[in-house]
Amino acid sequence: MAKHDEQIQKRMFIGVVWNCAGELKLLLSALLFLCSIITLVQFFPARDLRDCASLSPPSAAFDLVSDTVTAPTEVQYKKIEDVVVNNGLIKRNFNGYGSAAYNFVLMSAYRGGGDTFAIVGLSSKPLQLFSKPTYVCQWIPHHATVDKENITVAGYKILPDWGYGRVYTVVVVNCTFPYPVGADGSGGRLVIHASTSGGGDTNRDLTDTIEALTETPGSFDASQLEAPPKYEYLYCGSPLYGDLSPQRVREWIAYHANFFGEKSHFVIYDAGGVHRDVMEVLRPWVEKGYVTLQDVKEEERFDGYYHNQFLIVNDCLHRYRFMAKWMFFFDVDEFIFVPKETTIKNVTDSLSGFTQFTIEQRTMSNKLCYLDDNPGRIYRKWGMEKLVYRDTKRGVRRDRKYAIQPRNVFATGVHMSQNFKGRTTHKTDGKITYYHYHGTISERREPCRQLVNVTEKYVDGTPYVVDTTMRDAADAVKRFEVRTIGQVLLKTRQ
Ligand SMILES: *[C@@H]1O[C@H](CO)[C@@H](O)[C@H](O)[C@H]1NC(C)=O
Ligand SMILES: *[C@@H]1O[C@H](CO)[C@@H](O)[C@H](O)[C@H]1NC(C)=O
Ligand SMILES: *[C@@H]1O[C@H](CO)[C@@H](O)[C@H](O)[C@H]1NC(C)=O
Ligand SMILES: *[C@@H]1O[C@H](CO)[C@@H](O)[C@H](O)[C@H]1NC(C)=O
Repeated sequence: MAKHDEQIQKRMFIGVVWNCAGELKLLLSALLFLCSIITLVQFFPARDLRDCASLSPPSAAFDLVSDTVTAPTEVQYKKIEDVVVNNGLIKRNFNGYGSAAYNFVLMSAYRGGGDTFAIVGLSSKPLQLFSKPTYVCQWIPHHATVDKENITVAGYKILPDWGYGRVYTVVVVNCTFPYPVGADGSGGRLVIHASTSGGGDTNRDLTDTIEALTETPGSFDASQLEAPPKYEYLYCGSPLYGDLSPQRVREWIAYHANFFGEKSHFVIYDAGGVHRDVMEVLRPWVEKGYVTLQDVKEEERFDGYYHNQFLIVNDCLHRYRFMAKWMFFFDVDEFIFVPKETTIKNVTDSLSGFTQFTIEQRTMSNKLCYLDDNPGRIYRKWGMEKLVYRDTKRGVRRDRKYAIQPRNVFATGVHMSQNFKGRTTHKTDGKITYYHYHGTISERREPCRQLVNVTEKYVDGTPYVVDTTMRDAADAVKRFEVRTIGQVLLKTRQ
């Protein structure tokens, strides 16, 4: 996957890697073993996921039920009229036309091992919440023989978005076969049969057969999944949209490239926010191999939560799962920080016994600036230098961001993952934290709205104190930027 990304990057600079080529062609119906105890799966610990997967039927499942397979149900638009039955009793009829939201919108499918795959997509939210759609995964070898037959198992469905969806909600289907498939590199296809189970119309169990993944002979090499990860740290971004400030993005990427170091990589998903000026800022980092850009603007067609944020992070998780030791999930108006005397490596080493750790927020004012030197020059300073007022209000529950060791994680969210094996720790205070400059990234004007000359200030009932941690880091970041990519960004504007 990574190699593929890099090639594309070299050739055309932006990897437009939207692989939503779902072919909803074949209509096979395969009614199988349901794994359907799932309504609010996000609250199920990883243990349940394992139990469920272990219920998967053994190999010849498809053959076992082949005589009960029903013919595909075609949607008929022939209108059924009301009829007078007897004694003037009128039997009213109802005619359904079309479907308002897709049964499944395929974004991507990835191998997670010799025997396991993750399929990442969207699905009609009412269907998922009020009905029990089911998934059957099938592996079809390119050259099926008697001892290499099609194998089917129940897909295990995870809804990772906390019920935040809109017309669509995010679905990750975990397909785990009882033994490795295509392990000899002979190639095959992963097909998923998505059934509405009467959720849209109790008279119909519509099943869509979706070709999720095709492996050409020789393309799968099991050793890739065992190899040490290429990167120590990989950043998975949420989809960027809106009229973003190039200068803020410039600061963010320079800061974090410096912070995470050479063995890091940043995956940035563009949902419309990477306009020409932002592209200028990212381009040198793409060329240096720090950044991969993915154009996901097509996701805007499907109305989900926040530009389908949960879909994108799950794509990132599974796409790069084997490429990084640690994956970080946070936003481009947030800056990760560790105390001066330590490094990020110190922190992750000390937390390596955990699959996941969460990171506490320090909330910064997005408009108060510190007037402690020549005000005429403040407009030329970086946001992290001048926005130094920290909100110190107590008792406020602030969002956390998080990092995971992705090989242990099966699905993920925006503030944490709830589907993984291993342990989580929230006790990271004092070790690692993040500075949040809410709203500064999405405006292309000078953030300083109010110049203040005292170190403590109440604004609208919120107490602020001057915290120059980020300001103190800025000089090193600026030097790092010039050293790494030269002076191309010196004239960047808001
Ligand atoms: C699917 O779930 C199983 C059981 O929990 C897990 O071992 C496997 O890694 C998961 N696969 C993917 C691709 O996440
Ligand atoms: C496997 O499935 C494919 C597609 O449904 C079918 O053409 C083929 O005959 C099947 N092979 C076996 C061995 O069942
Ligand atoms: C942090 O890591 C460096 C080098 O990796 C090491 O020299 C130093 O002792 C570590 N510091 C702490 C506090 O663990
Ligand atoms: C600080 O600002 C206030 C009003 O904004 C002004 O009256 C005062 O003279 C300033 N003090 C200093 C030391 O600049």
